[in-house]
Amino acid sequence: MIELEGATFRYGGVEALTNVTLSMEQGAMAFLTGPSGAGKSTLMKLLYLSLTPTSGSVRLFGRDAAKLTRRERAHMRRRIGVVFQDFRLLDHLSVLENIALPLRIAGARPADYASDVTELAEWVGLGGRLNARPPELSGGEQQRIAIARAVIASPEIILADEPTGNVDPEIAARLMGLLLELNRLGKTVLVATHDLALVARLGAPTLRLEGGRLSQAGERAA
Ligand SMILES: Nc1ncnc2c1ncn2[C@@H]1O[C@H](COP(=O)(O)OP(=O)(O)OP(=O)(O)O)[C@@H](O)[C@H]1O
Ligand SMILES: [Mg+2]
Repeated sequence: MIELEGATFRYGGVEALTNVTLSMEQGAMAFLTGPSGAGKSTLMKLLYLSLTPTSGSVRLFGRDAAKLTRRERAHMRRRIGVVFQDFRLLDHLSVLENIALPLRIAGARPADYASDVTELAEWVGLGGRLNARPPELSGGEQQRIAIARAVIASPEIILADEPTGNVDPEIAARLMGLLLELNRLGKTVLVATHDLALVARLGAPTLRLEGGRLSQAGERAA
């Protein structure tokens, strides 16, 4: 489902990832840990096709990402839900409109999805702020919009970059619970996080990046 083969990525002179090889089967879940600057977000961006490796390859859904046409690429991205570390919400849209964006892009009509979107917004604790705009909300509230938006269209792969970095432990546990539940439903889920306590408790396989290199894949968290 997700395969990186010898992927290296350089930002100008800075080598952020070095020779990373990893693969995740359909329906797998893993955590990606490692210190700040280790390359976690860069790896996520390769998997979301927003960066192309300097060398090595990325395969998604069995296809080499470098060989996709623009159209295929756009289509593939719709099968991936992403929680960006910096949220990337649209400030002029309401909470509801932000969450519904992937559905709207896929051509669905508001009348058909309004109740699903409202229900998910309530579930992530934003029921009282449906019409607010992101700049009026706290960091943790914005993070919850980003997670709801990543999962609303039921993507096959979910990539979450520090999805609980801005919320309190109770909401963090709830949001991780949502990601685990989606994995139980068959989604392939990769979560980058600093929160080692949470990772240890959840017990999914953990990949560790350090200085752009992946240490032995497939270790189990304690
Ligand atoms: N746009 C960029 N231009 C140049 N260097 C960059 C850029 N983005 C990231 N880097 C560098 O690449 C390395 C990896 O960054 P990355 O954001 O992937 O780390 P991270 O593991 O996600 O860190 P954090 O835990 O702080 O989010 C760092 O040394 C960073 O300074
Ligand atoms: Mg990061």
